[in-house]
Amino acid sequence: MPNYYSIIEVNPEWMLDQESMGSKEKFWYREPEVEPRIDFLFKYPRPGSGEHWSEKIAAEVARCLDIDRANVELAIFQDTLGSVTESFTRNGLALFHGNQLLEVTVQDYDPERRYRQTFHTLDNVWQTLEQAFAEPEGVRNAKLEFAEYLILDAVIGNTDRHHENWGLLYRHTDVDLRVRLAPSFDHASSLGRELSDTRRDRVLTEGRVGAYSERAPGGIYWSADDRNGPSPLELLRRAVRVYPDYFRPGLLKLELLTENNIMEIVNRIPADWMTDSQRFFAVALMQYNLEQLSELT
Ligand SMILES: Nc1ncnc2c1ncn2[C@@H]1O[C@H](COP(=O)(O)OP(=O)(O)O)[C@@H](O)[C@H]1O
Ligand SMILES: [Mg+2]
Repeated sequence: MPNYYSIIEVNPEWMLDQESMGSKEKFWYREPEVEPRIDFLFKYPRPGSGEHWSEKIAAEVARCLDIDRANVELAIFQDTLGSVTESFTRNGLALFHGNQLLEVTVQDYDPERRYRQTFHTLDNVWQTLEQAFAEPEGVRNAKLEFAEYLILDAVIGNTDRHHENWGLLYRHTDVDLRVRLAPSFDHASSLGRELSDTRRDRVLTEGRVGAYSERAPGGIYWSADDRNGPSPLELLRRAVRVYPDYFRPGLLKLELLTENNIMEIVNRIPADWMTDSQRFFAVALMQYNLEQLSELT
């Protein structure tokens, strides 16, 4: 029997605040008398979706690839299955989201625009990172890390890397202001989590997993003139051509994620949390994406 992931039972008495950012219902909580004091975000999946297991699988894929990410656990709150994300904003760290940063560096950037924010391009993200760090080494490291997040997105088919789903962490020390890229977070919109099993089975039997992956528009645009963002895979194809020095190192790390790793990560989700169809599809999608990515190295 697989070694299933453990499940956190969230007690209503632990609740702190609702989180107003993002599109889904969620709240922060902290278990009392537990040290170190860490806040967690309970996220409800959209009804009928697999956003709880996709969030967990994504975080485990990132862990396997040694990509900096928020830790995620499966969780239950008042009989509802969900996921919890461990906060990375502690010890005086403050999160500034992409839109807050882009607003400062990119002319006419509308930070409130939720859909078709075509100015959210890779080049504009780069420009923002270039201005955020005083040292060239800092810029380089942030770009390398951001490239890893986009590689993760391409592996899991995360279509939601919009401008509130990445950011920088700032911390005032006695002597200066430190900055670094925040760990990757919010990977719920991935792995075909929105499909019904009927639709999944049809896509699988008709051999259309590749088409599903290639057609999914992502949250980062290539050009501000484009109508849609390219799929996470297509973004990678273009990015590695233009910025090989930033994307090649991350692509080389993909050998850490074997077929066996993928199966194990998916099969550690407990039996009644995920249907067979959801598992087959998630594995098939990652296999397709990895095959495509292997052609880029
Ligand atoms: N691990 C984390 N640490 C700190 N803040 C987080 C973390 N995860 C999410 N947040 C904050 O909560 C907001 C909403 O969470 P997110 O996972 O993006 O939810 P949604 O799927 O609704 O967009 C994020 O935009 C970010 O500000
Ligand atoms: Mg979000």
